Amino acid sequence: MQRGWYPFGASVIVCRREVNLMDNYVTGAMIRSQREKKNMTQEELAAKIHVSGKAVSKWETGKGYPDISLIEPLAEALGISVLELLSGDAVQNTNRSANMARSRLYVCPVCGNVIQTIGDAVISCCGITLPPQEAESPDEDHRINIDTVEDEYYISVDHPMSKDHYISFLLAMTDLGSQLVKLYPEGNAEARFKMNRVRYIYAFCNRHGLFRVSVSGRR
Ligand SMILES: [Fe+2]
Repeated sequence: MQRGWYPFGASVIVCRREVNLMDNYVTGAMIRSQREKKNMTQEELAAKIHVSGKAVSKWETGKGYPDISLIEPLAEALGISVLELLSGDAVQNTNRSANMARSRLYVCPVCGNVIQTIGDAVISCCGITLPPQEAESPDEDHRINIDTVEDEYYISVDHPMSKDHYISFLLAMTDLGSQLVKLYPEGNAEARFKMNRVRYIYAFCNRHGLFRVSVSGRR
């Protein structure tokens, strides 16, 4: 549950940091500084990734770029991540984004894909950049019922489940992750979730959007 992304189909997910990095390719200065940090000669680095010392020399002096297929082994040989290699500076993972309070849900209007992130991101699916869904309090037509059955919440929504108008997923958000149940037309608008640490229940209507209720105080 660490990554918090649940695409149900093909999608492109790019964190904001990476968006800025996509303009850059690996720089010679980065390769050199990381190589020197590891006390490797150009030949030693070259041997690790099966290229010539001359090739490494060219990269470091800006006279050539490593082939894209070499980026991963190069990063590994330098003991850094691909992200660090491409960004040109060491990245300190502060885990700032990994906070369920910053969780966002994205829903593709074309294919119904559901994507959850735990920080800001640019999400694209079916060629469309998706805005994060803003959850509303349920109205009369999208009331979310929460019942307790043993150690689970039984969630139901009194809502049509026709082909054109239906609840497409239910999601239980905890402070550590989430549980998502995809629903389909002609099925029932219901799901069961383990109660442990659940904070919010979300329901998504394909016509009316995202609704959310808090379950705090129920236990
Ligand atoms: Fe609806």
